[in-house]
Amino acid sequence: MANVLVTGGTGYIGSHTVVELLQAGHEVVIMDNLYNSSIAVLDRIEEITGKKPKFYQTDLLDQEGLKKIFEENKLDAVIHFAGYKAVGESVEKPLLYYENNIQGSINLYQAMADANVKKIVFSSSATVYGDPASVPIREDFPVHTTNPYGSTKLMNEMILEDIAHADPEWSVLLLRYFNPIGAHQSGLLGEVPNGIPNNLVPYIARVANGQLEYLRVWGNDYDTVDGTGVRDYIHVVDLAKGHICALDYALKHTGVEKVNLGTGNGYSVLQVLHAYENACGKELPYQIMDRRPGDIATCYADTTKAKELLGWEAQYNIEDMCNDSWNFTVKNPDGIK
Ligand code: NAD
Ligand code: UD1
Repeated sequence: MANVLVTGGTGYIGSHTVVELLQAGHEVVIMDNLYNSSIAVLDRIEEITGKKPKFYQTDLLDQEGLKKIFEENKLDAVIHFAGYKAVGESVEKPLLYYENNIQGSINLYQAMADANVKKIVFSSSATVYGDPASVPIREDFPVHTTNPYGSTKLMNEMILEDIAHADPEWSVLLLRYFNPIGAHQSGLLGEVPNGIPNNLVPYIARVANGQLEYLRVWGNDYDTVDGTGVRDYIHVVDLAKGHICALDYALKHTGVEKVNLGTGNGYSVLQVLHAYENACGKELPYQIMDRRPGDIATCYADTTKAKELLGWEAQYNIEDMCNDSWNFTVKNPDGIK
């Protein structure tokens, strides 16, 4: 069992991963500046697991604070979630994104190197594939980014690869997530977007609970099953479990691996909407709009490498994802407080 620092551990994916880590018997230290999450997440984690992880309210940009965490804890590995993630905001405020996601991450990697902690699992994204030439997308496909957020993911991948090439004792797992949705089955943890959601399922959830009037479907003239965009939605609990497998791998190996975490199945916007209608038991209004700039038609993963290398495969289907999202939405109308 390992002692793991989870940056961004009170956030959406981080909190679910902390639960899986604790349930697998690992020790967890969380660091988060609470920019996009609530301290109350810690009580929710304790309610689910019976354990309350050690918590530091620390910013990645605070080098002294990071150093203190590594001095006060004997850590074996880091799972690095902390960062900003809004694509549109990154286009408006690129320097903010480069400072937080690049400078902040470099501070973390430096603190790790200084403390001789050389195992890391990093949150990358399928966004690094840009508009893929074909689907399913394999890890060896060319990478190309179209916005500063995506560039920060790709740059972090490159930085970590360079670190591992310079020092072969490092073990680096670059996990490229497809579209994480859903919530913990307990209804205690889930995604709480700031303001009006940009992503599909958080938006649908607010239409379902009456906070938003109707879904705007961004285009129905793509070359897909019904003309609307197709994505590989993955249950956040499956994604969290993927991190436990990645950590186990990192603890036993050195070098760099890039791994897709998706289900390998694509669903259109309207298919997701209909699955959500079944989950909440009502019809949900929508309107077809123009395409959203920067969107692609279809994106789903080839999951062979995750299966072969990590022994991991997604278990939950789109119905489970929508049911768990709705359960969380109903139980937490004001988010996690
Ligand atoms: P999230 O915003 O819920 O969690 C990120 C956490 O990091 C938040 O709790 C926030 O307070 C914290 N944080 C941000 N900047 C920080 C800083 N400078 N110092 C300390 N803490 C800081 O996001 P999430 O959806 O859980 O995403 C986790 C990671 O996965 C991110 O790196 C994101 O880019 C990546 N990712 C997310 C998705 C997705 O759809 N959610 C897809 C692909 C990749
Ligand atoms: C977005 C991000 C991507 C990020 C991913 C997961 C953009 C351009 N890309 O991708 O970098 O990695 O989220 O967090 O923002 N849709 C609607 N109406 C809505 C919202 C979405 O029709 O109100 C459609 C979109 O056009 C798309 C699908 O739903 O076809 C999924 O959209 P979204 O949840 O935003 O994810 P991505 O576009 O895949």
